[in-house]
Amino acid sequence: MKPLLDVRDLTKTYVQRSGLFKRKKIEALKPTSFTVEAGKTLAIMGANGSGKSTLAGLISGAIQPSQGQIILNGQVLHADNYRQRAQHIRMVFQDAEASLNPHLTIGDQLEEPLRFNTGLNQKQRRERTIHTLQQVGLLAEHMVFYPHMMSTGQKQRVSIARAIILNPQLLVADEALATLDSSVRAQIINLLLDLQSDLKMSYIFISQSPEIVRHLADDVMILKEGDILEHGHVDDIFNDPQHRYTQSLLLSELNSA
Ligand SMILES: Nc1ncnc2c1ncn2[C@@H]1O[C@H](COP(=O)(O)OP(=O)(O)OP(=O)(O)O)[C@@H](O)[C@H]1O
Ligand SMILES: [Mg+2]
Repeated sequence: MKPLLDVRDLTKTYVQRSGLFKRKKIEALKPTSFTVEAGKTLAIMGANGSGKSTLAGLISGAIQPSQGQIILNGQVLHADNYRQRAQHIRMVFQDAEASLNPHLTIGDQLEEPLRFNTGLNQKQRRERTIHTLQQVGLLAEHMVFYPHMMSTGQKQRVSIARAIILNPQLLVADEALATLDSSVRAQIINLLLDLQSDLKMSYIFISQSPEIVRHLADDVMILKEGDILEHGHVDDIFNDPQHRYTQSLLLSELNSA
């Protein structure tokens, strides 16, 4: 079977000016290839600065690659074609607070992607918005709320609602649970698992928490300094990590998510 996502030699080099004439190259992501099957979850783990967010940004289209290809359902995604991927690949960020507009109601924020990406009329958009709020465990009444009227967990649910409202095939979550306290975190994990089984989405899930990764992921990829160090089934990597670096990531449970 063809994978949903097929990433080939994806590379990101940042060029930074250092001094008057010198330029410093930062290889944030060295040529990276992997696939994700439909309905499956790939977790990405790695130390700070290992390239996790760079990879997430490249896949979601927020960052332009230096080289390489991203193929979704057999179709090459073009770096500058935002519309082409906006419908199929959506991001959820760590900081729900910062990713929501404080001046717009929840209803308006959810409708925005529908206005830009679909031909739905106002009534249909409203129906879809209410349905999506319910899918993430919120109520139709939350349409008229502003972000500051909601709890951190509810705001993260709104971010997830905004991510799924266009029925994407792939959700990319960059440390989306890191700032949540443990009971809210457990609820959001269960929500993500329920949504995945209902909507058959694939996830790319960046997390520093071995516990969450074991719970959510099918496969795990370990990044070190922009390189894939190990990649395989979660049980295989967790039971028999081949590198000390991986072992230490799997032991770190301090304040991680
Ligand atoms: N816009 C940029 N310009 C220059 N260098 C960058 C830029 N963004 C990231 N980098 C560098 O690329 C490398 C990878 O960064 P990235 O944010 O992808 O790591 P990360 O694994 O997400 O780290 P963290 O765990 O801290 O979130 C780092 O060395 C970082 O300093
Ligand atoms: Mg990051």
